[in-house]
Amino acid sequence: MPYDYESDAANVKDDLNCVHIGSDIVFLPEIDSTNNLAKEHARNNAQEGLVIIAESQTGGRGRMGRFWHSPPETGIYLSILLKPNLKPDQLSLITLLAGVSAISTINELSHQRANLKWPNDILIANKKVCGLLCEMTQKQGNSLSVVIGIGINVNQTPEQFPENLKKTATSLRIVNGSPINRLTVIRSLLTTLDREYHFFLTEGGSSVIKKWSLNTDLFGKKVSVKRGAIITIGTAMHLDESGRLVLRRDNGHDEAIESGEIIRYE
Ligand code: BTN
Repeated sequence: MPYDYESDAANVKDDLNCVHIGSDIVFLPEIDSTNNLAKEHARNNAQEGLVIIAESQTGGRGRMGRFWHSPPETGIYLSILLKPNLKPDQLSLITLLAGVSAISTINELSHQRANLKWPNDILIANKKVCGLLCEMTQKQGNSLSVVIGIGINVNQTPEQFPENLKKTATSLRIVNGSPINRLTVIRSLLTTLDREYHFFLTEGGSSVIKKWSLNTDLFGKKVSVKRGAIITIGTAMHLDESGRLVLRRDNGHDEAIESGEIIRYE
């Protein structure tokens, strides 16, 4: 079922009991990318908590310059604008916080437990069900704005994924054997993110790292991490206090990796 653009925005907004998120909620039938629009609003001084939700995206973006397949009526494509008063080196914690919130919602609604893959893919049975793209913008002299873009595969059937994603993607409907109302997922996601963000602002980042670590099977595994042309191989040990992945190399030295993509698990 497509969104009902006016009443859904009003309903979701009325039902939310959030401190930070949902100052404005905009539903759109189609856009290039909800992240692009949220960043444009950030440059125009939009308030923290703005949420942009699209039925479909023509230029949905993933990490590493990839395309995020965004057809109507099946997936969730949304972006949230936050303006945390943080140092730049704490900002990757916001990415992890988004992952912790999204996996909590997915676990609440899925019949099978999900797993976080650093930095921020969410997998069920080794297939991707959710991706996150956090981007920052700073207007001259102003504080940093962070746009959290979240894509969740909700009601796709296996045939609805394009050929190149069939082996690697799944949806909540595939896992559960029945469709889910996307507004239920959106309400839960925004409420959880609001709670986790509030906790982070008041208590600091260490609990984000702890919660993230409880939702991954990565640690103790031998992994290859690709950053541009560089591939680093080692055993994944833990996340450091900035959210970097610490790899133990074969020579026994630990190396903290700030960004990249895990291309191979043990
Ligand atoms: C990834 O797994 O590489 C991240 C995918 C992020 C996709 C979401 S959909 C909503 C938001 N708008 C975008 O263009 N991308 C993010």
